[in-house]
Amino acid sequence: MGTAEQPLFAVTNRLPASAVELLRAAGEVRIDERETAIPRPDLLELVAGASAVLTLLGDRVDEELLAAAGPQLRCVANVAVGYDNVDVAAAERRGVVVTNTPGVLDDATADLTMALILAATRRLAEGDRLVRSGRDWNWGMGFMLGSSLQGRRLGIVGLGGIGRWVAQRARAFGMEIAYHQRNPAPAEVETALGAERMPLERLLVEADVVSLHCPLTPDTHHLIGAAELAAMKPSAVLVNTARGPVVDEAALAAALAEGKIAAAGLDVYEREPRVEPRLLELDNVVLSPHLGSATVETRTAMAELAARNVISVLSGQGPLTPVASQ
Ligand code: DGY
Repeated sequence: MGTAEQPLFAVTNRLPASAVELLRAAGEVRIDERETAIPRPDLLELVAGASAVLTLLGDRVDEELLAAAGPQLRCVANVAVGYDNVDVAAAERRGVVVTNTPGVLDDATADLTMALILAATRRLAEGDRLVRSGRDWNWGMGFMLGSSLQGRRLGIVGLGGIGRWVAQRARAFGMEIAYHQRNPAPAEVETALGAERMPLERLLVEADVVSLHCPLTPDTHHLIGAAELAAMKPSAVLVNTARGPVVDEAALAAALAEGKIAAAGLDVYEREPRVEPRLLELDNVVLSPHLGSATVETRTAMAELAARNVISVLSGQGPLTPVASQ
């Protein structure tokens, strides 16, 4: 059982060594060392008696987990910027602070987003499959044509940290930036990015590439469904590096199969790690396994930030990057 003098940190998955060292210097550490997701009964056992828990985005933090941890629990540090897996209101009711890892993963996720935009518009995964298949192919004027980015409009849904860095990168590719979010971005951000705010309905109609960077909330669940996909240009590309359930995956598979939109690039899925089977059969979708923040540098920074958050909370200095219920 964690105490004020000797806190107990429960960690639900392996973390980079530097983060574990930070925790070990501040208390006792209990880690589930599996690379795979921790089964629920083991998770509940792991957190029992912990002063703080470091969770991954696949760990559901709810009343049951908070109760299993016990009344000494002070902080849940989600090692992710998204925290839709955490019932923040339930934590708040128990006086448990919740933190996430904003900022440190913006560049990596923006890079991956550009990779998916390029892969989808230039048919990279399809081309890779063709070459590997050993089938004949021949350079010809009409062979495997994609579409250019220069002069095209990128529609960003959610111009927060990651969305802004995507916009900045896309500008270097000659794209124009439109965005949609509830509140306008600061004027200097709009000016620097040449970004025009517009309603989602207009953005979907006008954008050549739509890239999702909003959090998953009840409001954004299935934000992009059959009607929204039908509103997009037949030449348009949809990219999702945010959260799977923001897109109705079945509707997306149908839209891609019927040519309602040209292509998609997905890093996240509605029921991870499962993927809508119809998507797997389509050539015009590029699929990556939730790699947005998957660089050594970024994962190290995320884990260290989570560790510093729990240490700061337990030492009475308060969280570095807290989140609050909506
Ligand atoms: C996050 O931090 O929310 C990302 O999805 C992890 O890659």
